Amino acid sequence: MADETKDGPAPEPAGPAESVPSTTPKMTTEGARAEPAKAPPSAPAAAAKAAPAPAPKAVPKAGEDMSRRGFFSWAAVAWVGFSAAIGGCVTAMGRFMFPNVLFEPPTTFKAGYPQDVGAGVVDTRFVDKYGVWIVNNEGKLYALIAICTHLGCPPAWLDTQNKFKCPCHGSGYYKSGINFEGPTPRPLERARIFISPDDGQIVVDKAQKFQWELGQWEDPNSFIPLA
Ligand code: FES
Repeated sequence: MADETKDGPAPEPAGPAESVPSTTPKMTTEGARAEPAKAPPSAPAAAAKAAPAPAPKAVPKAGEDMSRRGFFSWAAVAWVGFSAAIGGCVTAMGRFMFPNVLFEPPTTFKAGYPQDVGAGVVDTRFVDKYGVWIVNNEGKLYALIAICTHLGCPPAWLDTQNKFKCPCHGSGYYKSGINFEGPTPRPLERARIFISPDDGQIVVDKAQKFQWELGQWEDPNSFIPLA
């Protein structure tokens, strides 16, 4: 107490220290250096932080992608092969059910009445279907087969030139069927011809042929005599 009176009143105890923001890092009680104070995050940043992060896209690995592509390629090839095989089977079945059949016209046919073919006329009505001309010539009716005796082309009757002409190599035949020009070595052939006893029509039978060079045109089956 003696000291107090001697040296005057003792200085007042210091009041609470003025709070001054300090930039120096605070020391924890354990003596570790404290983190510097951070500013509060802004609103958009906080929302972005709160939103869940999108799941990462599954990126196929290189080998996996190649193997998938290869699988689809092979599947396409297999499908094409399978379709071709099925198509072949169906075609084969169709061929089996409907085999190739050549529908030839009958070798024997009726060609109308003798009076339908005037004197000197070459009747071309049956060429397209039966390959035969009915000719009324020099008092006889006969059936000439429309096949060139050179190499088998179908000649044509040229009414204005009064001859048969082959378009392939130029062979020519008279109305009688005798050859006179071109490379053909012999006349046209005749088919059997007769009058039907049933109805009086001309009947032609291509199954029986007559060749001039063999003297067969004298055969009564190779012509119909006209009165
Ligand atoms: S086939 Fe007729 S002239 Fe040759």
